[in-house]
Amino acid sequence: SRKKKLLNKSFLVTAGPTFEKIDPVRFIGNYSSGKMGYAIAEELAEQGAKVTLVSGPVSVSTKNKNINIVPVESASEMYAESVAVFSTCDGAIMCAAVADFTPVHKEVEKTKRGNKNWSIELEPTKDIAAELGRLKTKNQLLVGFALETNNELENAQKKLLKKNLDLIVLNSLNDKGAGFGVDTNKITIIDRNNNQQNFELKSKEEVAKDIIDKIVEGVV
Ligand code: C5P
Repeated sequence: SRKKKLLNKSFLVTAGPTFEKIDPVRFIGNYSSGKMGYAIAEELAEQGAKVTLVSGPVSVSTKNKNINIVPVESASEMYAESVAVFSTCDGAIMCAAVADFTPVHKEVEKTKRGNKNWSIELEPTKDIAAELGRLKTKNQLLVGFALETNNELENAQKKLLKKNLDLIVLNSLNDKGAGFGVDTNKITIIDRNNNQQNFELKSKEEVAKDIIDKIVEGVV
């Protein structure tokens, strides 16, 4: 077996979608399964790290004793839990598909069906990765994900700099078998010097290993 390379290190991982409440029975969500984030948490723990996994609503799970799951529902809950733990961590990996907008009013009662149209006013959520980028000290590593549909490399590079990330993992939506719901992923890892490393289509577990190997280079 490989030597554990992240003993005595602690990491924050965000995973899954967020659900933004409209009324007691309805929400705005997305198709994120949480598989990539859970695979990353498992691999970090495999390498000896202690992991806080701030997870949106998912059907995947883990029994690993070194992974502490903090279940959240909304983007604002995910923000609060992530900011609360980040200062104690050596790094954070932002895998969650956080909602970009949330309803301005969360209705207390179920909205009744009627014949009129229903408009829901949405306001932007806070960017968790960008906030951790502001809080980051020189000994902390921050890794984000980007799912782009056009000008992928250029947009991912911009996102890395804007959010003050150390690495960004680009998933291409143009590749079959990559992205939401599926068990495989095809990634490019980009660093602050715009070095780009392309990987083959692999299982999300193997992709997690590639990402953690890259992180080990940065923290050990
Ligand atoms: O800006 P965009 O949503 O494409 O950025 C994706 C990256 O930022 C991912 O790492 C995602 O987890 C993170 N993010 C976040 N909080 C948000 C939006 C995105 O942490 N509100």
